[in-house]
Amino acid sequence: KILILDFGAQYTQLIARRIREIGVYCEIWAWDHDPAEIAAFGAKGIILSGGPESTTQPDSPRAPQVVFDSGVPVLGICYGMQTMAVQLGGATEAGDQREFGHAEVAVVAADRLLDGLKDTPGAPPRLHVWMSHGDHVSQEPPGFVVTARTDRIPVAAFANDERRWYGVQFHPEVTHTRSGEAMLRRFVVDICGCQTLWTPANIIEDQIERVRAQVGSDEVVLGLSGGVDSSVVAALLHRAIGDQLTCVFVDTGLLRWQEGDQVMAMFAEHMGVKVIRVNAADRFFHALQGVADPEAKRKIIGNLFVEIFDEEAHKLTNARWLAQGTIYPDVIESAGSKTGKAHVIKSHHNVGGLPEKMKLGLVEPLRELFKDEVRRLGLELGLPREMVYRHPFPGPGLGVRILGEVRREYAELLAKADHIFIDELRRAGLYDRVSQAFAVFLPVKSVGVVGDARAYEWVIALRAVETIDFMTAHWAHLPYDFLDLVSRRIINELRGVSRVVYDISGKPPATIEWE
Ligand code: XMP
Repeated sequence: KILILDFGAQYTQLIARRIREIGVYCEIWAWDHDPAEIAAFGAKGIILSGGPESTTQPDSPRAPQVVFDSGVPVLGICYGMQTMAVQLGGATEAGDQREFGHAEVAVVAADRLLDGLKDTPGAPPRLHVWMSHGDHVSQEPPGFVVTARTDRIPVAAFANDERRWYGVQFHPEVTHTRSGEAMLRRFVVDICGCQTLWTPANIIEDQIERVRAQVGSDEVVLGLSGGVDSSVVAALLHRAIGDQLTCVFVDTGLLRWQEGDQVMAMFAEHMGVKVIRVNAADRFFHALQGVADPEAKRKIIGNLFVEIFDEEAHKLTNARWLAQGTIYPDVIESAGSKTGKAHVIKSHHNVGGLPEKMKLGLVEPLRELFKDEVRRLGLELGLPREMVYRHPFPGPGLGVRILGEVRREYAELLAKADHIFIDELRRAGLYDRVSQAFAVFLPVKSVGVVGDARAYEWVIALRAVETIDFMTAHWAHLPYDFLDLVSRRIINELRGVSRVVYDISGKPPATIEWE
């Protein structure tokens, strides 16, 4: 396994995902993590990530000495390389301007990391890389050779093959660095000697053993939501412990069209998982009566969900464990936080005080996995592709897509409109090209002509966005003909809707959801 020490770069998680794609397990810890634990972790290699700070500033972060004393290979990326330079006797320099984007580096000496890699014909070998830095290394430390340079910086990569210490100014984890994967593979496989055993099949086998060892013959309860994470946990635990698993599925009446039936068909009927379906729509609509404030609605939905889940779980008097779909990004200890994140209870599948009240232990088989790994695991476990690659759906569901007061008839209309939109996106091959798409119910009436009569009916807004991290997003430029088709279908097929609009706001300033 590999340890990544995080100096706070936005790309750190990407490094981890690339290494895992190669098939090697790795973890991300903050740069100031306890050195004794770093030593005890027993990594076969350490990667120092990039970061926003400047080594030229006093008090900027440094790699703990144990990294260089441990005798394992070290790869410094960007800031990680710069701090290596400073700590090992070289020097860095602040640049007059940031360099961001494509760059071409010339490989000027042979080392085990870069030798033989070449993106374009000719000599010296040239590599297309992605740069994002202000400072650069101006002087390599003693014992190192400069292995790559660019027109702008004298030291784009350096190496000490004997100690197996390497540094690159560019970002091999970004796909724009064409040979980036090859470099990372060389580092973790050839240089560190890791085996590539981190595959979906192996992860499943390993988790099955761990879960069995953890729970023995005890019973386990899981909140199944229809989302990717809890679905994968259900499939995994079912394989591991069969009937010792009971899932509780709370149908809030605010789910996607026919989602409740689909969850039951998939898990209960098809896979034979024990699922208790709680039809709680009445309770949710009742609790939401007259409430228009978005945060108040979120709270009501969240609390009621927990309450209902608690009621059901308490009926399972033999349950000793609570399973959760917590995934790695929820638990990563990020640079800058000394203590790391506390034990995270997932927002929607959360279960309030349940673990303490019922003295339940937690089973979290996805705790070490990134979302893309969870998806691959899902496929390997036999879940349908459509389910595993579904767009995200907020915990409060349609509750935050019906603006203002939530009513059953609005929810029914909205679920159908949303289904038409999603169905057409899939048919047109557009579903996987947008990150998230959905319909929103606007509680305003607009005038229309339906048949020969004047109608005075509701408005449906369509939203489709493209985004990498859901922190910022662009509205998707869906073809006019496609929007036309969706609009016609919604207005023709749904009584009560006479107007469809398309949301063309970016995030920021708008959010993805309307509430
Ligand atoms: P916004 O609207 O903040 O959404 O741009 C960003 C992403 O988060 C999802 N989202 C939620 N998910 N509970 C959730 O579990 C919520 O209350 C919630 N609000 C927004 C949203 O769907 C989008 O993917």
